[in-house]
Amino acid sequence: KMEAVGKLTGGIAHDFNNLLQVVLGYVDLLDGRIDANDRPARRAIEAIGAAANRGATLTQQLLAFARKQELRDRLLNLNTLVSDFSPIIQRNLGGEVTLKRTLADDLWNSRIDPVQAEMALLNLVSNAHDAMDGAGHVTIATENVVTDSDGALAPGLEAGEYVSLSVTDSGRGIEEENLDKIFDPFFSTKGVGKGTGLGLSMVYGFMRQSGGGVAAENLAEGGARFTLYFPRARGMVDAKPGPVLRNVGGGETILMVEDQPQVAELGRAMLEDLGYTVEHVDNAARALEVLRGGGQFALVFTDIVMPGMTGVALAQTIRREFPNLPVLLTTGYSDRALDEDSRAFELVRKPYRRADLSSRIKTLLDGPNGIA
Ligand SMILES: Nc1ncnc2c1ncn2[C@@H]1O[C@H](COP(=O)(O)OP(=O)(O)OP(=O)(O)O)[C@@H](O)[C@H]1O
Ligand SMILES: [Mg+2]
Repeated sequence: KMEAVGKLTGGIAHDFNNLLQVVLGYVDLLDGRIDANDRPARRAIEAIGAAANRGATLTQQLLAFARKQELRDRLLNLNTLVSDFSPIIQRNLGGEVTLKRTLADDLWNSRIDPVQAEMALLNLVSNAHDAMDGAGHVTIATENVVTDSDGALAPGLEAGEYVSLSVTDSGRGIEEENLDKIFDPFFSTKGVGKGTGLGLSMVYGFMRQSGGGVAAENLAEGGARFTLYFPRARGMVDAKPGPVLRNVGGGETILMVEDQPQVAELGRAMLEDLGYTVEHVDNAARALEVLRGGGQFALVFTDIVMPGMTGVALAQTIRREFPNLPVLLTTGYSDRALDEDSRAFELVRKPYRRADLSSRIKTLLDGPNGIA
């Protein structure tokens, strides 16, 4: 069932992500043009921006549930992530909740997308907060775990070595009859306007996409515990992405490759607003034609998921044929194979904001080797 629902939501979320990209992009454009003294117009643009941002967050959760979130994982230690993130967790829990950390010494490393892992942790923590009505105890613990039987620790989790991260609360616990529903998208007991029922769906999808799993249990002494299991990762450091040489000479003309006309129009408007000149093509083959025909560009900005040749394949071809030409990828959607290959390039996630786009392009144009 989760598979079928995942497929459906993934498709819808992908389209929604593109729509929100358009809304948020134009909000940023208008924001710079509205008279600072025009209060009603300012309020309107802020309200549109806030609503679209909320929509974007929901879409990201849906994409995560459908395992279509773009993952940018790297080798890290969960203890570091928990320590770095603790101030935000504490703020989220409020002053009447005591936060305890029990972090294992010698915790193994894992390969994780830190941003998504923080989102998952935040979802568990805010659920704990709600279950305790804002007062009680929360414990965050990490541990090395080994299991030799499939599915023993969490549904779908194979035998193997894992790093666990658990959040335990002193709240009211999960009603027994709901235990097998809580990870379903839109399942919530919090009432209209309070819960969307996407928090745990995001956590579930993210954990499965990361090669791990999640388990929920009630404790005998009251309260609930959610445990995330990330596969142990060996090796010390990430392989460095191949160097992209800085483009010298040539004007600041950007070749934009985007198949969706509305997103392309927005991209052009944003880039032109940032002071660049834009040439747009709607597929990768056409982009190569233009480049091979001698077109001079400072950078290629390409969508990943397009009919025909993907943006990643395009980027790889460009790196071979035009090693000095930097490439910036963009996508709101993920596919395991494409993710692997896209790591060698800079990427900006959709929906991207004007500031994101501007700083990524600057990094690529000014950086010593184009990769931070
Ligand atoms: N720590 C917990 N203790 C008790 N019940 C919980 C706990 N965490 C989750 N639940 C139950 O699982 C349901 C689903 O959780 P989920 O995070 O997916 O959605 P939500 O919190 O209701 O809404 P959203 O996270 O989208 O704002 C909750 O409504 C609640 O009934
Ligand atoms: Mg929640």
